[in-house]
Amino acid sequence: MTLVRFISADGNRIDEVEAPAGERLLDVAQNAGQPLEGTCEGQMACSTCHVIVDAGDFARLPRASEEEEDMLDLASHVTRHSRLACQIWLDAAWETLTVRIPAGVHNMQGR
Ligand code: FES
Repeated sequence: MTLVRFISADGNRIDEVEAPAGERLLDVAQNAGQPLEGTCEGQMACSTCHVIVDAGDFARLPRASEEEEDMLDLASHVTRHSRLACQIWLDAAWETLTVRIPAGVHNMQGR
């Protein structure tokens, strides 16, 4: 299990949830009620699953594909540690994974 921490855009709230290896980060986020839309459900046709990964955790992730990099170019508030949550699968070796939900991301409920 990996302890996934979601930091709100304003940094004022941290939600923690445990999830098993192999689970996709987008699914973990949505199941935990995080405001990540993920409109295309991982078909690499949106960028509404953009998250900013903790710097230390980012270094452990497999590199983003060129396709993912291209989609990130369309996201707002991109940083050096930006990734698409639909392209991250939890690894059994990760005890924790911390991501921030970027400002300006809204789910269908507008949260
Ligand atoms: S859900 Fe659309 S690119 Fe990730």
